[in-house]
Amino acid sequence: MNTNPRPSDLPALLGGVPLRPQGPPAWPSADPEILQVLEQAYREGWWGKYQAGKCEQLEAWLRTYHAIEHILLCGSGNYAVELGLLALKIDQGDEVILADYDYPGNFLSIHAVGATPVLVDVNPRDWNLSLDAVREAIGPKTKAILASHLHGGRVAMRALVELAREKGLVVLEDAAQAVGALVDGRRAGTWGDVGVLSFGGSKLLSAGRGGALMTPHADVAQRARNHLLRAGNIVCPLSELQAALLLPQCLGLDKRNALRWANVRSLIDALAEVPGVRLFVAANDAERPAFYKVGMQFDVAAFELSRELALKAMRAEGFAVDEGFIAAHVARAPKRFRQGSSLVESERAGRGCAMLHHPILVESMEDVRALALAWRRVHAHRLSIRA
Ligand SMILES: Cc1ncc(COP(=O)(O)O)c(C=O)c1O
Repeated sequence: MNTNPRPSDLPALLGGVPLRPQGPPAWPSADPEILQVLEQAYREGWWGKYQAGKCEQLEAWLRTYHAIEHILLCGSGNYAVELGLLALKIDQGDEVILADYDYPGNFLSIHAVGATPVLVDVNPRDWNLSLDAVREAIGPKTKAILASHLHGGRVAMRALVELAREKGLVVLEDAAQAVGALVDGRRAGTWGDVGVLSFGGSKLLSAGRGGALMTPHADVAQRARNHLLRAGNIVCPLSELQAALLLPQCLGLDKRNALRWANVRSLIDALAEVPGVRLFVAANDAERPAFYKVGMQFDVAAFELSRELALKAMRAEGFAVDEGFIAAHVARAPKRFRQGSSLVESERAGRGCAMLHHPILVESMEDVRALALAWRRVHAHRLSIRA
């Protein structure tokens, strides 16, 4: 996936001068607190130590922030998903329901523990997991539901957890894209029997790599710890330096998420007149989403340009807008999954999703207006772009 647009991609078609000639803002951003941590780690010599108290501090912060009992840090969000499945005792022959339109690594993590993915559809409104489709897909071998909050959208977790309880299933909630978001009044990642966070290099809390598993259950935490430890050593750890780099970011998370949301709201207004581009979220949403990506439903017929060309033109204007995921049933061999419901919306999502990378959302309102202007400009030039 290309998140580094080259403004030189389509210069002739759009008049030669991109709206944002400098391209998208760099990520991670050059925060002075990060430099301070790096200097301190070097001066005090703990950057290369097994233990320096930073992981403990991060765990404590995450525990309080999420109001959840157990936090385990690890090397990636992907690994946290796999660890979560293991800790939930998902095994050979079990089925795990997930959205057909989801982060592709989740499908593979289910296979990694020997289970079978059951693919279900997404909601037409925000292309996140559909509860009706989940209900339809539950079968005798189903053990778990994996629910990811994607591109600023959120899965209705209260109802999902109720459904899971009724059917005797466990829930893994993937909040890798939604750290700090509120979902039905609680932090994303705290509704599931396991919740997952990611601290990957492009994420809202960034340590280059890293992840966390959260759970309210002592037995699940203990099983996860058993998988994570080999003779007292962590198999796939988060380092002390990574934890230290995350701490100042944690303190600024709510403020930044609020700024992102304010900017997304103004983007929604500014895009109202652009045909064929609709955001996953609505401006009157009372809860606070978090935006690792801003999901957009792109309608080729209404915009009168292919998604590929429209996004290429947006990147040429200097904005990091890319295609979303491919629907799993399109990308994977049928013998590797069971189809649990119609996958019509998910297929539409795979073909029609556009996602904006988050760094621009902490820039000024002017930058966000320029982004909306770019969409209008690309639409206005659609005939010459198509020619
Ligand atoms: C929804 C979701 N889950 C899991 C992951 C994996 O996280 P990591 O990159 O830390 O392995 C990602 C990464 O983008 C993601 O978007």
